[in-house]
Parts: sequence; structure tokens; C-alpha cells
Amino acid sequence: MVFKLSVALLALAATSVSAAAVKRVSCPGGKHTTTNEACCVFFDLAEELQNNKFDNECSEDAHEALRLTFHDAIGFSKSGGPSKGTGADGSIMIFNDTELQDPANNGVDGAIDNLKPLLQQFKVTAGDLIQFAGAVAVSNCPGAPRLQFLAGRPNATHPAALGLVPKPEDNVNKIFARMADAGFSPTDLVNLLASHTVARSDTLILNREAVPFDSTPFTFDSQVFLEVLLKGNETLPPAAGEADAQVPNALAAQGEMRLQSDFAIAHDTQTACAWQEMINNQQLMMNNFKNAMAKLAVTGHDASKLIDCSDAVPIPKPPVGKATTFPAGTGPKLVQQSCPKPFPVLKTDPGAPTTIPECINGDTNIDDCPS
Ligand code: HEM
Ligand SMILES: *[C@@H]1O[C@H](CO)[C@@H](O)[C@H](O)[C@H]1NC(C)=O
Ligand SMILES: *[C@@H]1O[C@H](CO)[C@@H](O)[C@H](O)[C@H]1NC(C)=O
Ligand SMILES: *[C@@H]1O[C@H](CO)[C@@H](O)[C@H](O)[C@H]1NC(C)=O
Repeated sequence: MVFKLSVALLALAATSVSAAAVKRVSCPGGKHTTTNEACCVFFDLAEELQNNKFDNECSEDAHEALRLTFHDAIGFSKSGGPSKGTGADGSIMIFNDTELQDPANNGVDGAIDNLKPLLQQFKVTAGDLIQFAGAVAVSNCPGAPRLQFLAGRPNATHPAALGLVPKPEDNVNKIFARMADAGFSPTDLVNLLASHTVARSDTLILNREAVPFDSTPFTFDSQVFLEVLLKGNETLPPAAGEADAQVPNALAAQGEMRLQSDFAIAHDTQTACAWQEMINNQQLMMNNFKNAMAKLAVTGHDASKLIDCSDAVPIPKPPVGKATTFPAGTGPKLVQQSCPKPFPVLKTDPGAPTTIPECINGDTNIDDCPS
């Protein structure tokens, strides 16, 4: 009897799986088939983003769109309740006049100005637009994972409270507490910070834009996890009021900066090993980032009520396949290690220290280069 029942259940499960697999809808225009017609709009949106916003590259606009996913989603507080924010809800875009008063949101105006007009062009909510744009953006960075995208976030009805977005000068325990209040563990945070491998600051350094956090800001590799651990004696001159945002680093002469927060998270006993583990482990970093972003993107939502439209996310450019190396002029002697496990053995790039590229190779779009 038990046997018969389980056979029947198996048969039932098999039918529903194959039914789901064959039931596909054809989108208007006939170019795409997908699992749910609600996903069709995202294929068109992906094309628009790639051609007219990101130039199919891991460009400045792509970096900024990825950052925006975090600054929207983190507007959520388990202790404060929905009045403080409803997570990945587009509030930063709809109520930008309010949320951009938070200094932690300095620099996100560019992504909002770039993406907000798309709300007039495509029938999507602001929360869906932000999370989808981030997934499309990072697909242009070689080595990024293909992020999950679920559709159906309702529009925010009110702004998130100010003060919920972590700042680079914040104490590490304050950052961990804030992340916990939004539902993220210290390890989740390390996994999300793989994003800083394609990141540059426009606001923290005096008279300078696009100051990178690692030597390869257009590649989704694990150099950032190594370079944040390298001891240095130089700090780039800070913009007004930003003196505590960075710590001295080994590659300042090459134009790089280290965030105080990244440094502190790299060394905290709770996170030092999760940080070190990702150095020279492309696959682990990709998997960890994909899982952490899947969680970030549904902050404040019941994922089971959303529709899986991941097939509208472009297939990312593959990893460049270069092992992590000490940039020329640095080496193992500079490593500040806090994880007690053996440090990975890495080669050092030969020759004299090289300047970090400011524009993507061959890219002629001036917007992708600092002025
Ligand atoms: C402790 C948490 C975090 C802090 C304190 C922090 C801080 C910062 C700061 C200060 C910048 C430079 C902004 C500027 O001056 O233009 C930045 C850039 C960036 N952040 Fe974070 N961040 C955090 C977590 C995250 C997370 C979870 C993501 C995941 C999506 C993320 C993605 C980015 C990206 C992609 C950029 C580069 C933007 C660009 O190049 O224009 N950050 N972050
Ligand atoms: C908010 O967005 C609107 C465009 O929708 C723009 O005109 C306004 O300047 C933005 N506000 C801030 C503070 O960036
Ligand atoms: C969400 O808000 C945007 C911006 O105000 C608007 O353009 C869009 O139509 C709204 N979408 C829905 C489903 O309410
Ligand atoms: C920093 O260290 C480098 C190499 O160790 C040295 O050449 C340089 O003079 C130092 N700079 C400062 C400001 O101490």
C-alpha cells in the first residue's frame, strides 16, 4: 500500500515536471520563449539596458547599477518593521529625493538618473527594474555568475528610513548588526562584497572619480579579496569629510584605494576565513555571490510569490581564466593575514608597478572613463 502510494506520487511528480517543461509561452515578436508571459517584458528590457545603458560592457554605468541593488534592498529592518522600509522595493528610485539625503547613498544618483526613465518605457515596477538591471549589468563583467531574477515586487509606498545603509567608516560591529537586522549574516556580507571586484569610488577621494578598489575593476575576479589584505603606507587624499572612509594601501601610487569597511571585514574573526577562502577560488566566489545576491534581491518579499524570470538574464562573459596574482611591486611579504588557515600560494606579476586601467580596453565611450 505504502509502495503503491509512493509510486503514484512519483508518477504525479513526473507528470507535473514534464508539464512545466513543455508549457512555454512565446513572447510577442517571436524572438523568445519563456515559462511565464510576465517574463516577456524583461527580454526587451535586457536588450535596452545592454544596448543603450551599459554598452554591453562592465562599464561605469554597469558598476553603478549593481551598487543600486544593495542600496535599495538594504532599506529593510526586522526590528523597525515595514514603516522603516520594505526592502528591494524600488523606494530609492521612487522616493529618491528623500533617500538620497542619506550620505551613505552618495553617488547612487547616477544609476537612478540612468535607469528611472525606463519606468516610462517598460511596464515593470521600480524594485524589479533595479534588481534586474543589476543582474544584467554584472553579466557584462567576465567571471560573474548568472544571477537569479524573480519578478513581481510591488512598488514601494513610502521611502526607507535614513541611516539603514552601511558606510565605509562604520565600525565593523555596527555593520554586522545592521546587516543582521536586514537578515544577513557576516558570511553573507563577505559573499556580497565580491561586488567590490567591479567597483570604483566617485565620492571619497579629493578631485578624483573612478578610484578602483582593486587592480582589475572590469573583471569579476578575486583580486579584490587579495588586494584588501595588502599592507601599505599611502592614503589617497580624501574628499572633504571622508578622511575615515579608507585605510592606507599598497597600491595607492597605482591609483587604488582600500575601504576601511572592507579592511575591517577582511580581518574580523567572524569573517577573516570566509574572506581568505575566496582568494584564487573563482568558482567558490561565483557560487557564493550568486546565492547571496539571490537573497539580497528578495529582501522584504516572499520569494514563493514571485515569478522566476532568470532566463531573461543574459549569460555572463566567462572568467578570463587568469589565476589571482600579487600585482607587480607587491608580494607575500605585504599580506596582513587574520585567518589561521594556510594562505594560498600565488605568483607575483613581473616588472615594475603598472597603472590600473581607467577605461575598459578598446572602449571609446567617454562616459566609461573619468573626465
Ligand atoms: C558594508 C557594506 C558596504 C559598504 C560600506 C560599501 C561601501 C561602498 C562605497 C563607499 C562605494 C564607493 C561609492 C562611491 O564613492 O562612488 C561602494 C561602491 C560599490 N559598491 Fe559597495 N559597500 C558595501 C556593500 C556592497 C554590497 C553588498 C554591494 C552589492 C551589490 C556593493 C556594490 C558596490 C558596487 C558595485 C560599487 C561600485 C560602484 C561604481 O563603481 O560606481 N557594495 N561601496
Ligand atoms: C530624483 O529623480 C528625479 C527624476 O525622476 C530627478 O529630477 C531628481 O533630481 C532626483 N533627485 C535627487 C535628489 O537626485
Ligand atoms: C511603479 O512606480 C513607477 C514610478 O512611479 C510607475 O511608473 C509605475 O507605473 C508603477 N508601477 C506599478 C505597477 O504601479
Ligand atoms: C612607503 O613605502 C615605500 C616602499 O616600502 C617607500 O618607498 C615609501 O617611501 C613609503 N612612503 C611613505 C610615505 O612612507
